[in-house]
Amino acid sequence: MVRRALIAGNWKMHMTTGQAKALAARVGEAAKQATDRDVLVAPPFTAIPAVAGALAGSEVIIAGQNVCWEEQGAYTGEISPVMLKDLGATAAIVGHSERRQIFGENDDLINRRVTGALGFGLTVVLCVGETLEERESGQTLAVLETQVQGGLEQVSGEDLARIVVAYEPVWAIGTGKTATTEQAQEAHAFIRRLIGKRYEKGLADQMRILYGGSVKPANIDELMAQPDIDGALVGGAALDAESFGRIINFK
Ligand code: PGA
Repeated sequence: MVRRALIAGNWKMHMTTGQAKALAARVGEAAKQATDRDVLVAPPFTAIPAVAGALAGSEVIIAGQNVCWEEQGAYTGEISPVMLKDLGATAAIVGHSERRQIFGENDDLINRRVTGALGFGLTVVLCVGETLEERESGQTLAVLETQVQGGLEQVSGEDLARIVVAYEPVWAIGTGKTATTEQAQEAHAFIRRLIGKRYEKGLADQMRILYGGSVKPANIDELMAQPDIDGALVGGAALDAESFGRIINFK
């Protein structure tokens, strides 16, 4: 089964609208040559309209960096799936480690976001990953299991087609330390087996699992050569059009 690769750029809390427009235009150019893979960008909410304008007519997918589960209501500081769609986004990142660690989001809350976003027709990039302490104490696979199961609670096999899992070891995010390709492959294969056990093997085989954590032009080709790595979630290197262009056009 050949899964279509997905290269996703998480811009985090960077880019004013003017900067976002310029970067998006260059990403759109780089993505033109990459017709056998998908490209996604997740700008800050405030820059989504500018990015949508710059990417009009392009196949690049636009995502929010988080999403609430309700259409509207008393949820100060949140953005609804309907609001994201209104701006031209069709996907959302959920459960990023910065949401878990800095903002205290747990698997229950993340699961509400996942099911809400799916219910309103969005694609979800569900992030999971262990901290350094968890890895060093041998808990990596247990943590991944809890996060995958918790995040996908109530998600049907049918809806699984709109889920992408991103494995991002917390110790590799923004640190310049990448997991070795073996460590990444092992975690990805484990996640795929989990999905296979919980749903069915056919669905697990179709599911895209991205690697994230210090992905760069220098390591993307080796990562993408692994059988269970179907793409990348890129932070820092996604802010530079040349670097991200090279990552999109991995060999
Ligand atoms: P990084 O971030 O590529 O800067 O390590 C990845 C992420 O947090 O998604």
